[in-house]
Amino acid sequence: MSTTSVSGDADLIAGLPAGFRWGVATSAYQIEGAVNVDGRTPSIWDTYCRVHGAIDNDDTGDIACDHYHRMPADVALIKDLGLDTYRFSVAWPRVQPRGKGPVNRAGLSFYDRLVDELLTQGIDPWVTLYHWDLPQELEDAGGWPVRDTAYRFADYAMLVFEALSDRVNTWTTLNEPWCSAMLGYAYGAHAPGRREYPAALAAVHHLLLAHGLATGRMREASPRKLDIGITLNVATAYPASDAQPDVDAARRADGMGRRIYLDPLVHGRYPADVVADLAAEGVELPVEDGDLEIIAAPIDVLGVNYYFSQKFTGYAEDGSTVDSSGMPVSRTLPLNKPRTAMDWEIVPEGFTDLLVGISRDYPGLPMVVTENGSAFDDVPDSTGFVADADRTAYFTSHLAAVAAAINQGADIRGYLAWSLMDNFEWAYGYAKRFGIVRVDYETQARTPKQSALYLKSLARQHRDR
Ligand code: NOJ
Repeated sequence: MSTTSVSGDADLIAGLPAGFRWGVATSAYQIEGAVNVDGRTPSIWDTYCRVHGAIDNDDTGDIACDHYHRMPADVALIKDLGLDTYRFSVAWPRVQPRGKGPVNRAGLSFYDRLVDELLTQGIDPWVTLYHWDLPQELEDAGGWPVRDTAYRFADYAMLVFEALSDRVNTWTTLNEPWCSAMLGYAYGAHAPGRREYPAALAAVHHLLLAHGLATGRMREASPRKLDIGITLNVATAYPASDAQPDVDAARRADGMGRRIYLDPLVHGRYPADVVADLAAEGVELPVEDGDLEIIAAPIDVLGVNYYFSQKFTGYAEDGSTVDSSGMPVSRTLPLNKPRTAMDWEIVPEGFTDLLVGISRDYPGLPMVVTENGSAFDDVPDSTGFVADADRTAYFTSHLAAVAAAINQGADIRGYLAWSLMDNFEWAYGYAKRFGIVRVDYETQARTPKQSALYLKSLARQHRDR
């Protein structure tokens, strides 16, 4: 493992290149609320939140941060923090209710106004086209395991692209397809809550196909040079030892978490070891002729979302290396690091190793950190201010990890903190807070935390150096 050390802001900033972007990210369902407004139809998350027990406290995104009605004030917050980039997602069921047919002008107009507001405030808008809110009618027709969903996505992407590409320079097709496919269709932990492993693998392929189809069409329609890419949640998978079963377990984790996405995106092929492992489980990716060429449409930027890394072993507790169905054992072991409120271990060196590893395995791919952050059990004072030393330290160590990766040759062009404000943390509801701005859900008051002031100061010092 590589190590990182920091001796103050100046050292940290010195390791980040000129023109490095500083920003924050959010997603539509997590902040907007207003789920029945201006023609929006339900997404899989509206449905899933109605399943009793699916979400902590049975929370829903019905109101969330009410950002739909408070957008100008929220943009002003970003402006006050002196950040230059805002990554947000467009809600498919707002723009194209039911997932097909013509554009819904009323829904689209929200994003039109948001983009204009950002530009007025001097903030660069970064659009994510899909952050998990699939229109429910497309799920009713089979969802991501069905090939047609990829084509529906490309049509929807073009509706947004035609409306905003005169003003938006940076486009992310999908956010974290691993989560959409595996949490949604294999583990049943996210909407739509299915537990069907072969369907999840079909979803992986159709999400990648959706990305490729949309990328190709957007590129073709581009009036000018735009940056188009995808955002992946990736991590370093460390083997517990040099023993072959441990090395294999880490290789499998890296295969299913990182290479199954990046190899087809960059090299136009699925990794042979992953395909072989899946075949041993009786699962095949539904690849049709020409798909891999579509998926490998060149991208301009890879979005990297990083939260934690893990250590893997190929041994069960009793020492065996195969389970009762004859499949190889894979399980995680603690790295014995401090943890966040999500119970995720804090592993900044895993971030450096990840970024350096991507630039080694996929050379020439510029990266931006499109999410990085942490949840902690915040305690506000009587004014609503949170002195979040733990979250601030997380930012310091992870920005130092980015600087260390750049120092080792990785091409990293910016850092977007997750998240602008506390929001609906999916299956955890509102219990987990990732914001650099506190949200009081009773009053919808926003109060920047210490970590927000810290990022503000770093961004300013970096610009002024
Ligand atoms: C990544 C996801 O993109 C985002 O929606 C989520 O809130 C964060 N991880 C934290 O879990």
